Amino acid sequence: MAILLDCDTGIDDALALIYLCSQPHVELVAVTSTPGNVDAAQAARNNLALLELCGRPDVPVVIGASSPLRVPLVTTPETHGPQGIGYAELPPARRTLDARDAVELWVEAARARPGELTALLTAPLTNFALALRAEPRLPELLRRTVIMGGSYYYQGNTTPTAEWNAHVDPHAAAEVFAAFAGQPEERLPTVCALETTERIELRPEHVAALAEAAGCADPELVLPEQPEGLRSRASNGLVRHVSDMLRFYFEFHRGYDQGYVAHVHDYFAASVAAGTAYCATRTASVHVETEAPRLMGTTVADYRGLWGEPPNARIVSDNRPDESFAEFVRSVGALARTLG
Ligand code: RIB
Ligand code: CA
Repeated sequence: MAILLDCDTGIDDALALIYLCSQPHVELVAVTSTPGNVDAAQAARNNLALLELCGRPDVPVVIGASSPLRVPLVTTPETHGPQGIGYAELPPARRTLDARDAVELWVEAARARPGELTALLTAPLTNFALALRAEPRLPELLRRTVIMGGSYYYQGNTTPTAEWNAHVDPHAAAEVFAAFAGQPEERLPTVCALETTERIELRPEHVAALAEAAGCADPELVLPEQPEGLRSRASNGLVRHVSDMLRFYFEFHRGYDQGYVAHVHDYFAASVAAGTAYCATRTASVHVETEAPRLMGTTVADYRGLWGEPPNARIVSDNRPDESFAEFVRSVGALARTLG
């Protein structure tokens, strides 16, 4: 399963990338870095460092656009930390970026391998929108497209009605959904949105289970009563860095009254792309608001054809959180063991 990942590496993007590295059946073709949680250069530094940490320095990392199509870039250090990976301090990668531009890489790869590539998009859709402008046949050339983005009849996480990826670059999201309108159902993007990704609510017990699965001798305790910013002392390197990322993310969610939990949106999208997660979907025609100031980035799904427009998305309507966490612990724990 050949996957091309576009991410704005933040903490849950990092988990998605690590998860893909844990899947022997996944060929990670390349990682493109889009501005969102952090700027594009920081996302790329995180991607290079994470791939090295996971023993995959062979996977190309590129950047493309440095800002959204029309609106100014807004990042979110409060959510993912100043460098986008919480409290983790990853050893810097020894290699540098691939010289190609992200859009060039998307178009070249899709043309070279028609019908083979799965696009996994866990960032604002800036680079993917630019790639669609460069190659309008992308929806036909790709085998499948999985998007983490939007929220449908469910409260936003950035404004009362807008989800982060859609809000950072609403014009790109609007162009992407418009590009898929009228495609046969099997080619419509699978959309993982807040109403189901917030069910994938990682908790401290999952960090403890991950450490155990990785063979750590001591229990890995990340607890709400501990002082903020405590650093992990796990004996396993991957577990230590993941624990340091998630502690920051737990503290962020607690600060926004969500509890000492972590919504790992992008990990869920990665498991959908890898074909290892159950999900049910509903076909819809999605609108992304790009005019009304208070509603920028708001996504609306017409499931009933009331607008008389062709569908452009298959929105995930059901998932199985417990199975998702069992899969995460099993797969990433096994990867961690191999890395030592
Ligand atoms: O709204 C959640 C999404 O925005 C995730 O992809 C997270 O990483 C941020 O990019
Ligand atoms: Ca993301």
